[in-house]
Amino acid sequence: MKPRYSGKVREIYDVSPEELVIVTTDRISAFDHILPQTVPGKGIVLNQLSSFWFRRTQSIVPNHILSERLEDMPAFFQQESFRDRTVLVRKLQMLPFEFVVRGYLFGSMWEAYRQGLPFCGYQLPPGYQQAEKLDAPLLTPAIKKETGHDEYIDMATLEDRLGSTLTHQVTDICFQLYNTCAEYALSKGILIADAKFEFGMDQNGTLTLADELFTPDASRFWDLQAYAVGTFPKSLDKQLLRDWLQAHKENGQLPDRVPEEILQVTGERYQRYLQQLVGVQIP
Ligand SMILES: Nc1ncnc2c1ncn2[C@@H]1O[C@H](COP(=O)(O)OP(=O)(O)O)[C@@H](O)[C@H]1O
Ligand SMILES: [Mg+2]
Repeated sequence: MKPRYSGKVREIYDVSPEELVIVTTDRISAFDHILPQTVPGKGIVLNQLSSFWFRRTQSIVPNHILSERLEDMPAFFQQESFRDRTVLVRKLQMLPFEFVVRGYLFGSMWEAYRQGLPFCGYQLPPGYQQAEKLDAPLLTPAIKKETGHDEYIDMATLEDRLGSTLTHQVTDICFQLYNTCAEYALSKGILIADAKFEFGMDQNGTLTLADELFTPDASRFWDLQAYAVGTFPKSLDKQLLRDWLQAHKENGQLPDRVPEEILQVTGERYQRYLQQLVGVQIP
C-alpha cells in the first residue's frame, strides 16, 4: 500500500472513505531538512505521547483517534514494524489553519517583539524578556500553505474566514488544551512553551481535534530545571543535533550525516520525555 501523503515524519494512508492510518516513522528533521538517518524509537515516542494526550483531553474536545490497536488496522499493517507507531483515525475535513497557543514569548513572536512589531495583531507592552512567561497565553493562528511556510494571521482574519461561532469555539478549546496539559507537564518537570493544534470537521459537522498532540515536534518543550527568563532555553530533543549540524557546517552547507552517537543520545532524550510525562518506557 502506498501512502497518500508522506510528511517529513509521518506517512498518511487512505484506508477507507472514512478512515486514515497514520504511521509515525523514526525520521528526524532539523533546519527544515529530513536527515538521511533515523532515530530508532522516535516515532514510537511521538505516537505514544500523542495518544496519551488525546486520551487525557477527550473531555475537552472529541478527537480523531479510532484505534491504537494494530489488530484493528487493515491487513497491510499487521507487521511488528508498525506496532506502537500506527493509529487508525477518522478522516476529517481539515480546517486550513494551524492554531498555535503561546504561553511564553519566544521564537517568531519574540523576533517580532524585539523589533517593536506586532505579531498576529498583538502589540505587547514593553519590558518582556526572551522566553518570559506571557501574562496569559495567546492564540497566534496561521494559514497552512502548500509550501510548508505557514502564514501568520490575526484573530480578525481568522474570524473572517471561520465565522465568529467557530472561531470562539476553537479559541476556547485551544486555551483549555494548552492550560490543562501545560499544567500537567509542569508537574512532571517539563515546560510547554507553545503548542500547535489542528482541527477538522467530521461527517456530522462536529469540530474534532486531529493530527498530533503535544509531541516535541508540534510543541516546544523545555526542561524546567534549565529554564531561565532572558535566555534561550534549549529544547532537549533536537538541540544536540542542531548544535552539531551548526558546528560542522562547511561553506554554509549543513553536513549530510551525523555521528551515530548523536542519534543515539537524541533517541534517549525522546525516550526520557515518554518516561517523564507518561511514566512508561518503550517496549
Ligand atoms: N484526521 C485527519 N483527517 C485528515 N487529515 C489529517 C488528519 N489528521 C492529520 N491530517 C493531516 O495530515 C497531514 C500530516 O502531515 P504531516 O505528517 O504533519 O506532514 P508535514 O507537516 O511535514 O507536511 C497534515 O496535513 C494534517 O493536516
Ligand atoms: Mg504537520
